[in-house]
Amino acid sequence: MTSRKVYMDHGATTPVREEVLEAMLPFFREHYGNPSSLHAQGRAVRKELENARDIIAGVLGAEPKEIIFTSGGTESNNIVLRGAAKKRGAPGHIITTSIEHHAVFDVCRDLEKEGHQVTYLPVDKYGKVDPQSVRKAIRPDTFIISVMAANNEIGTLQPIEEIGAIAAEHKVLFHTDAVQVVGQLPLNLSKLKADFLSLSAHKFNGPKGVGALFMRKGIRVAPIYIGGGQERKIRPGTENVPAIIGMAKALELAAAEMDEKSRSLTKLRDRLISGLLQIDEVILNGHPDERLPGNVNVSFKHIEGESVLLSLDLQGVAASSGSACSSGSLDPSHVLSAIGLDHPTAHGSIRFSLGYGNNDDDIDYVLEIIPAITDRLRRISPTYKPKAV
Ligand SMILES: Cc1ncc(COP(=O)(O)O)c(C=O)c1O
Repeated sequence: MTSRKVYMDHGATTPVREEVLEAMLPFFREHYGNPSSLHAQGRAVRKELENARDIIAGVLGAEPKEIIFTSGGTESNNIVLRGAAKKRGAPGHIITTSIEHHAVFDVCRDLEKEGHQVTYLPVDKYGKVDPQSVRKAIRPDTFIISVMAANNEIGTLQPIEEIGAIAAEHKVLFHTDAVQVVGQLPLNLSKLKADFLSLSAHKFNGPKGVGALFMRKGIRVAPIYIGGGQERKIRPGTENVPAIIGMAKALELAAAEMDEKSRSLTKLRDRLISGLLQIDEVILNGHPDERLPGNVNVSFKHIEGESVLLSLDLQGVAASSGSACSSGSLDPSHVLSAIGLDHPTAHGSIRFSLGYGNNDDDIDYVLEIIPAITDRLRRISPTYKPKAV
């Protein structure tokens, strides 16, 4: 065991920044009023809550009333897809991709059970969706298109601007799960033709269990929750005030530092990728450059990603095999299958996701320890044949 700790699993979740925690604390200690209460404490908290909404809307190029606070990406996605289906009433057609996060993919599968039909568009070997395939899939009964802004496992960025324009041209609702992009790359909803966008604070150094849904002015889904009147009745329930304050602070910091951070993460990412590709029989998964600044996903042929992961863990490195949400399953991830990897190659995949706090020393450390790990595991692999020298 080592005392060295290198966290490279920012795609799963990120540490809360000190400034974010500081911003949240008063809302546990002093400002605990309910924002819906009419007394002075309640009104003071309401003011801060609306300020948080203004900040988030400002960063995204949206209007404050277009931001609905939720408990995170999963809930935002459910509210949109289930709410759009409920509003439609009769069974209809949904277009999505074969590489969505489970919070979209499995919701679509579930909606199929209710009679809706779903087209899961294929992707190319880099994990990209062809916007023309979206156009071709549109039918008279298509009521929503949902395409993620970037994939959580392989980091590939999707052409959501073009897809949004196609959806608008055909007057079909467009949703993008931007959980992996918000706070990492610029996104401007005054230009992007999206009707809905999901985001989650714990992916950009905010707290867990809080997120938001952008719902464009004039557009509304049927509520899937019933309760009080909070969040335009789309997400009733007392707002998680400290978390929302933390999310706004985290997004504000991320936006202010975005250029610098994405440039430095891209450098670290590319150094790690080229170092890993020096190892025999390693392939890069995802697009070579149109990918999230912090995402590195490689397959080590002839070995199990899980074994690499455990060896890395023993040496203090936190990474992930497949996506954290789907690990624990023996099936290869649907994303790696969709880009055409065979089972053994998909099982040999590891995701290193870089973020706040990572530096060149971390990359050096991983590149220093990984050849010995892969050598050792390959020596006991039944399929590995070392190159003749
Ligand atoms: C693309 C994507 N969508 C949705 C989610 C779920 O977000 P949350 O954890 O906030 O529910 C994640 C989290 O891994 C994600 O990466």
